[in-house]
Amino acid sequence: MSSNRGNYADLRMQEVGFTILLGFFIALSAQCDFAESRKWLSDADVKYISHRQSMNYENGYGDRGEKVVVDPYLNFSNPRLKNAYIALQAWKKAINSDPLNITGNWFGADVCNYTRVFCSPALDDPNIIVVAGIDLNHAQIAGYLPVELGLLTDIALFHINSNFFCGFVPYSFINMTEMFEFDISNNRFAGSFPMVVLSMPKLKYLDVRFNEFEGCLPEKLFEKNLDAIFINNNKFTLEIPSNLGNSPVSVIVLANNNLQGCLPDGLGQMAPTLNEIVLSNNSLTSFNPSDIGKLRNLTVFDMSFNNLAGFLPDSIGGMISLEIMDISHNKLSGMIPESICALPNLKNFTVSYNFFSGEANNCMALPSRGDILDDKYNCFPDRPSQRSFLKYGPALSPSMGRSASDLCKPIKISTSSLIKIPPSPSSLPPSQPPPV
Ligand SMILES: *[C@@H]1O[C@H](CO)[C@@H](O)[C@H](O)[C@H]1NC(C)=O
Ligand SMILES: *[C@@H]1O[C@H](CO)[C@@H](O)[C@H](O)[C@H]1NC(C)=O
Ligand SMILES: *[C@@H]1O[C@H](CO)[C@@H](O)[C@H](O)[C@H]1NC(C)=O
Ligand SMILES: *[C@@H]1O[C@H](CO)[C@@H](O)[C@H](O)[C@H]1NC(C)=O
Ligand SMILES: *[C@@H]1O[C@H](CO)[C@@H](O)[C@H](O)[C@H]1NC(C)=O
Repeated sequence: MSSNRGNYADLRMQEVGFTILLGFFIALSAQCDFAESRKWLSDADVKYISHRQSMNYENGYGDRGEKVVVDPYLNFSNPRLKNAYIALQAWKKAINSDPLNITGNWFGADVCNYTRVFCSPALDDPNIIVVAGIDLNHAQIAGYLPVELGLLTDIALFHINSNFFCGFVPYSFINMTEMFEFDISNNRFAGSFPMVVLSMPKLKYLDVRFNEFEGCLPEKLFEKNLDAIFINNNKFTLEIPSNLGNSPVSVIVLANNNLQGCLPDGLGQMAPTLNEIVLSNNSLTSFNPSDIGKLRNLTVFDMSFNNLAGFLPDSIGGMISLEIMDISHNKLSGMIPESICALPNLKNFTVSYNFFSGEANNCMALPSRGDILDDKYNCFPDRPSQRSFLKYGPALSPSMGRSASDLCKPIKISTSSLIKIPPSPSSLPPSQPPPV
């Protein structure tokens, strides 16, 4: 991750002119605490706020009739700051709990002095000062996003992670054409994917993790020139759109949703940029082996807690930068291929809770095998803490002898099955796997 943070920082330097904020935002964007703060708002509160938000909107685009009245006595040094004033006053009205009193000084014309609001010279006009960033991370604020926020047309960083914002992202955000980092993670946003963010032309960093978004992922997400996509811990379902391979991201985390089917073909196209892909805890069944092998810059590959079955393809050996590979808690079987254990940078290879029954010689010979390879609860004949193949084997028969990558295709039983039946009824597994 640290190298990616470096990339974001570089990009910020090029595209965003306010370096003072830099360290501050890096520090804040590097963490996203959750869980702990959730208890502040009951489900009933959430319902109430969402309801209130939709009542305040006149139509499906999030347009609201109500207007902020600007006192004519207030003087603004330019019209954009006046718009920012309207946006922030509307937001104050849409906040119904601010226990840390962060918005307490959000009044008066000097919006650049408002707590957690940051100004800098406009990118298109260095002679005027505009609101360029908002950071309300970890502010414990409950409320929603009013349509007036769309008046913040110069904003490049919008960070509101770890609050209790509910409802949805108004369509007016389409006017935030300078947006570079959009982080609404760990809130209570719901409904379908916030499509409007995909119309922000300069967006590089998208973080909507730990919300309650549902439905499918839009294809357009993978056509955007994003550097990082975090949509983990939502309720997304259905298949991952087939154009995933078009995405130029370095990091993509789709974990803890309910995505189904196979990883789409074409992942190999991501080879130049992709460093980390985390797909754990979904319902994925397979991936295309020739694609996977092309991901030569990938360092983290996590498909744990899915429904992968069959055997692992040799082609994974093509991921020559791989450091961490977690395929635990699937239904994989057969041999662990030599090509994987030969990966030069492999530090952490977790295959536990599968049905592997054999491993290549070089896996056994890994110098610090115990540290690198976690092989608990498989069907290895000579290893400690294994499960019984005789008990679990029959359940696997439909996928036996098939490559993990074949399972989305019409069944073609391979005659040269790699699977060895281990004679190991003595190593009985626990009836329930222990919690991890
Ligand atoms: C705004 O400007 C007018 C005219 O220059 C001035 O009379 C007024 O006091 C100013 N308002 C504030 C809040 O400074
Ligand atoms: C909140 O902050 C404002 C401005 O700093 C202050 O005037 C007000 O008294 C504070 N409110 C509470 C409840 O602390
Ligand atoms: C911003 O706030 C500081 C004190 O917090 C004050 O001294 C300064 O005058 C304010 N700036 C403007 C332009 O009002
Ligand atoms: C975007 O900005 C334009 C120009 O100010 C405005 O006319 C339009 O209504 C805004 N769009 C939305 C969806 O708010
Ligand atoms: C998997 O995700 C579900 C929610 O989708 C969550 O409740 C569960 O704890 C997750 N399991 C693991 C092992 O992370």
